[in-house]
Amino acid sequence: MNEIPQTESVHTTVLLHESIDGLAIRPGDIYLDGTLGAGGHAELAAKVAAVQGGSITIVGLDQDEGALARTKKRLEGLGAKLFLIQQNYRNLDQALDSIQPKGETAMKANRIMLDLGLSSDQFETSGRGFSFQKNEPLLMTFKENPDQKITPGGAPDLTARQIVNTWDEENIADIIYGYGEERYSRKIAKGIVEARAVKPIETTFDLVEIIKNSTPSRYAHGKIHPATRTFQALRITVNDEINALKEGLEKGWERLAPGGRMAVISFHSIEDRIVKHFYKSREGATVVTKKPLTASHQEISENPRSRSAKLRIIEKL
Ligand SMILES: C[S@@+](CC[C@H](N)C(=O)[O-])C[C@H]1O[C@@H](n2cnc3c(N)ncnc32)[C@H](O)[C@@H]1O
Repeated sequence: MNEIPQTESVHTTVLLHESIDGLAIRPGDIYLDGTLGAGGHAELAAKVAAVQGGSITIVGLDQDEGALARTKKRLEGLGAKLFLIQQNYRNLDQALDSIQPKGETAMKANRIMLDLGLSSDQFETSGRGFSFQKNEPLLMTFKENPDQKITPGGAPDLTARQIVNTWDEENIADIIYGYGEERYSRKIAKGIVEARAVKPIETTFDLVEIIKNSTPSRYAHGKIHPATRTFQALRITVNDEINALKEGLEKGWERLAPGGRMAVISFHSIEDRIVKHFYKSREGATVVTKKPLTASHQEISENPRSRSAKLRIIEKL
């Protein structure tokens, strides 16, 4: 399943300098990275503090335990104080509370970084069905045993396989439209329901085949792969990504120290809209990026994944 050693990452950090320059890292900062991933942003943050003759505290969160283990090696030896915690960034308050010295008031961060979505490592090697280019079980979750019930008698954790095999056609169409902005959502949902009546949909390639058969043949020759939007929608649903973002922004803002900055990189318009409106609605804030920063032509040519990235930064007064 894993094609690369666990100590190496194939992920290329997006908008690296734009993010860390925009956060204006200073020695002594508590830098909270809610999506630590391969640690590219965190590493540069530590180096920028070192160049200024000081160091920072890195509170690095990721829901993927494997990512934390790999990244620990990358960040050690940079002079930063490290707290790497397996946690959803929607619970970043709990993560800060867990490392707070006893008797002190709620710990705040001076810089917060959220680089949303998945890392290339997860698309390439997780074996969990995130990529339509690999034939893998249709899971799209990081939970260890996603088909087991979490608590005796409780509901099993959601997987993409469950959605496509058990949800109503209308609900499937709604998420593919709402979270994928897929214009053929109804046709794809119909195709899914017809296909599963013949045999259960188990793998990514089963689903890709259904999507291709449900959409016009010219769709396969468009700019993006015909499965892109459906896969995005399933992933967002399985991992409750929209609610996680909303909660993460609220809690991030609450736990941002006065004078602190928060940077968010999003990769699709649904997320970007949420970030934009959240920033607009804050009182006592300066939106540092009047327009979102995007990747340069050079970055896009070196790392095509960066083409849809939008970076927005806010400062708390
Ligand atoms: C795009 S990568 C981050 C890459 C990182 N900035 C770097 O430079 O290497 C996103 C990471 O966030 C993690 N992630 C996504 N959603 C998350 C969530 N709600 N809570 C915690 N981690 C999350 C993923 O597991 C992944 O490792």
